[in-house]
Amino acid sequence: MRSEKILEMLNEQLNRELFSAYFYTAMEAYFASQNLDGFANFFMVQTKEELDHARLIFDYINKIGGRVILKELKQPKIDYSSPTEVFELALSHERFITSSIHEIAKAALEEKDLTTHNFLQWFINEQAEEEETMDKILRKLKFIKEDPSGLLFLDKELSTRVYTPPSILQEN
Ligand code: FEO
Repeated sequence: MRSEKILEMLNEQLNRELFSAYFYTAMEAYFASQNLDGFANFFMVQTKEELDHARLIFDYINKIGGRVILKELKQPKIDYSSPTEVFELALSHERFITSSIHEIAKAALEEKDLTTHNFLQWFINEQAEEEETMDKILRKLKFIKEDPSGLLFLDKELSTRVYTPPSILQEN
């Protein structure tokens, strides 16, 4: 069963996913300006994934007969003091997104909207992966203490990240 409350929450989540893409594009720009192209590549791929998340919610709202309402995107933070700061912010942002998805899933259960609850399961799993990815890189940065040779090694590792559209998007 579809409810206006759930539709509003999904529209808010759509905005948050679009903002995530915007936020990560700002991080990509920061790393590009530092000539850390592997880190920039990591956030370029992350941005594409966020746009996929937004697309999935956009399509779902339409599928259940709702109206997509696009809202204003605030300007993301554009200057960072270090790669560590970037990943601290990215991890805390992902934690915020996780709690936001969980809130919708809980509300969907309360509203007996099992279709939306089921739809959100993919996002719940995806969020666990996203948090893990950000946390792993953050821990590596802390381990190397941003030593230049360690940073360049990590930059090379992150240059190998490749964008792959999620299978759930290809199925729709
Ligand atoms: Fe779409 Fe990174 O959460």
